[in-house]
Amino acid sequence: MNVLVTGGCGFIGSNLVKYLRRERPQWTIVNLDNLTYAGNLENLAELEGDPRHIFVRGDIGERSLIDDLIGAHRVDAVMHLAAESHVDRSILGPALFIHTNVLGTQVLLEACLQARVGRFLMVSTDEVYGSLGPDGAFIESSPLAPSSPYSASKAASDLLALAYHRTFGLDVLVTRCSNNYGCYQFPEKLIPLMIVNALHDEPLPVYGDGGNVRDWLNVEDHCQALLLALERGRAGEIYNIGGGAERKNIDIVRTILALLKKPDSLIRFVKDRPGHDRRYAIDPSKASAELGWSPRHSFEQGLEETVQWYADHPHWWQSVKSGAYRQYYDKQYRARLDTARP
Ligand code: NAD
Ligand code: DAU
Repeated sequence: MNVLVTGGCGFIGSNLVKYLRRERPQWTIVNLDNLTYAGNLENLAELEGDPRHIFVRGDIGERSLIDDLIGAHRVDAVMHLAAESHVDRSILGPALFIHTNVLGTQVLLEACLQARVGRFLMVSTDEVYGSLGPDGAFIESSPLAPSSPYSASKAASDLLALAYHRTFGLDVLVTRCSNNYGCYQFPEKLIPLMIVNALHDEPLPVYGDGGNVRDWLNVEDHCQALLLALERGRAGEIYNIGGGAERKNIDIVRTILALLKKPDSLIRFVKDRPGHDRRYAIDPSKASAELGWSPRHSFEQGLEETVQWYADHPHWWQSVKSGAYRQYYDKQYRARLDTARP
């Protein structure tokens, strides 16, 4: 089996590539990633010299490159993760999100159709459903109501993938997953940003009242779900993946501070994210019934291990916090922190 993984140097992608090497050692993984700020080959250092991991630096939107790759490596299946993935960046600059997430995905789908690739797994997100009230959970038939340019671009790519199944018969399936956490997550997302700031005794910027709820999933559990979906999922189907660990942001931030023995006085309540979704929760019963999937990690233990991983790997996050990250951080947070409430 030869699998093309796109975005395999990002957070979930690099965890997935390593998971596949362990779980399916006979497979060859072609990893296509153009190494944006979020992609880091160091995440895959342990695979250096592994002949069954072939890294190619390139863009999912470059059709001739994709055709060559699929042909040269006789690709049987694609696991499509490459994307611009951060909501706040999509608010600062939506165009790149349309380019990569929508146009890039369409190029990839078209190339797979022409080359008759056997299966296309579209890694989508629960954010396509928009915001939930205090009760209930997203099911696969919940209406799509994305709030941010990021989630709108993911909804477009998710629907395009399904359209390639309905219209052209490409073997497509879509997974919609909740918030992941774990090692190698870029420190622009809630959990790693709060850990890294706390380690530096810097303020922790909590948006709004901190009462927004996310349904957290350990990245290893997501990787397991993606492999099961690839192997057992039905063509044309959508599978919701979620950890059953709904937590308020403020509770997570307080837990991180407690784990690092840092004071709550580092917390700052800052101006809210525009269009901020209040709550996400996933009903994963279809994935459980059809794929035999259920999460294995408890959130509390997983969070503790993640905090420990960041504390033990300062060289990793110090190197990704480049000048460009600093610029982004200042643009995103400086004015907010200047007018923050403790
Ligand atoms: P990430 O930002 O950490 O990684 C994205 C990767 O894609 C990077 O390695 C980047 O270099 C690569 N990439 C970006 N544009 C590219 C292009 N044009 N060509 C080739 N490679 C490109 O993202 P992540 O958090 O690992 O998310 C991976 C996927 O999973 C995304 O599609 C995201 O929408 C989805 N997802 C993420 C979460 C989450 O909580 N992180 C939850 C559900 C779904
Ligand atoms: O639900 C799946 C999605 O989860 C994925 O599709 C996205 O790729 C991923 O980035 C994530 O989106 P969120 O917007 O939920 O994640 P983020 O870590 O950016 O924010 C989580 C919550 O924390 C959200 O309510 C906003 C809040 N937050 C975030 C940051 C970065 C803060 O309060 N302060 C912050 O500085």
